[in-house]
Amino acid sequence: MDAKVHALLNQQINKEFYSAYLYLEFSNYFEDVGLDGFANWYMIQAQEERDHAMLFYTYLQNESQKVTLEAIDKPDKVFNEHMDVLRAGLEHEEYVTSLINDIYAAAYEVRDFRTMQFLDWFVKEQGEEETNAHDLITKMELFGTDPKSLYMLNQELAARVYSAPSLVL
Ligand code: FEO
Repeated sequence: MDAKVHALLNQQINKEFYSAYLYLEFSNYFEDVGLDGFANWYMIQAQEERDHAMLFYTYLQNESQKVTLEAIDKPDKVFNEHMDVLRAGLEHEEYVTSLINDIYAAAYEVRDFRTMQFLDWFVKEQGEEETNAHDLITKMELFGTDPKSLYMLNQELAARVYSAPSLVL
C-alpha cells in the first residue's frame, strides 16, 4: 500500500474514535439537561462512530498493513445552548467528509482501487450523516423553542435504535 494512503487510513481510525468520543460528550450534555431522547440519539451516533473506527482498523489488518493507535483528543467544546451541540455535530460531519475525500483522492492518485472501493461506503455514509445533522437542526429551529414540541422531538429521538453497519469486512 502507498505510504500516504496507509498513513491517512491509519489516522482515520483515530478520527473516528474521536468522533465517538465527541458524540458521547454530546450525549452527556443532553443527559445532564434532562433531554434523554437527544442523549439516546447521540449515544447511538457514538456507537456508529466506534464501528467506523473498527472498519478502518479491520481494513488495514486485512490488507496486512500496520495499525498504530494514537491518543484520542479530549472533546473540548463548550455549549451555551442545545442548538450549539447540533451545529457542532454538523460541522464535525462536514470535517469528516473532507477527511474521507482526502483519503479517496490519495488512493485515486496511486490507482489504489481496492481502497477506493472500501471508501465508497463511507462517501455514502457521510452524505447520510450530514443530512441527518441538517434535519435535526431544521427540526430544532422549527420546534425547539416550544416546550411541548421539544418534548415530542425528544420522544422521537428516543426511538432511535442502534443497528450494525451495512459494510462487513
Ligand atoms: Fe464516521 Fe460521522 O463519520
